[in-house]
Amino acid sequence: MAVRQILKMGDPRLFEVSRAVEDSEMPGLGDLVRDLIDTMEAADGAGLAAPQIGVMKRVVIFGFESNARYPDADSVPFTVLINPQLELLGEDIQYGWEGCLSVPGMRGMVPRSQKLRYSGAALDGSRIERTVTGFHARVVQHECDHLDGILYPMRIEDMRCFGFEDELRNMAASCPPAPVVAA
Ligand code: NI
Repeated sequence: MAVRQILKMGDPRLFEVSRAVEDSEMPGLGDLVRDLIDTMEAADGAGLAAPQIGVMKRVVIFGFESNARYPDADSVPFTVLINPQLELLGEDIQYGWEGCLSVPGMRGMVPRSQKLRYSGAALDGSRIERTVTGFHARVVQHECDHLDGILYPMRIEDMRCFGFEDELRNMAASCPPAPVVAA
């Protein structure tokens, strides 16, 4: 369909709470989802949320076989998730580097729940429910944060571990992945 412009941090729409998709809207979501896919692929992203292209609806996509932006990450199945609900499981917190297509050129060290259960509707209306860990869990938390107007820099605890991608090697030296800690 179309590669859409991705809103960048500073655009106030990225801080809004998106609204749930009504059942009656489901049949018409195909165009939005195709635009999200085209836009994510053009930017080589690991995920994208509808508000990032200015559509304030609770729709996210994510997934990749391998991703140049996250070369060390395990693959995540390609997923379209509508009206997602997250349930964080356990108290293990994992720190990891994140980037965002709405915050181009930057990376930051973000704490996330190591394990979660998520559910929601697929594009065909069927129900998705999965329990996941690690990078898969991180991506889902990142994308669903967009639906609540939260960008990953808002979750960074140590601003010395937030900077430009081309300084990542320098940052990594002073930002070793923190040990898993119980919250
Ligand atoms: Ni993002």
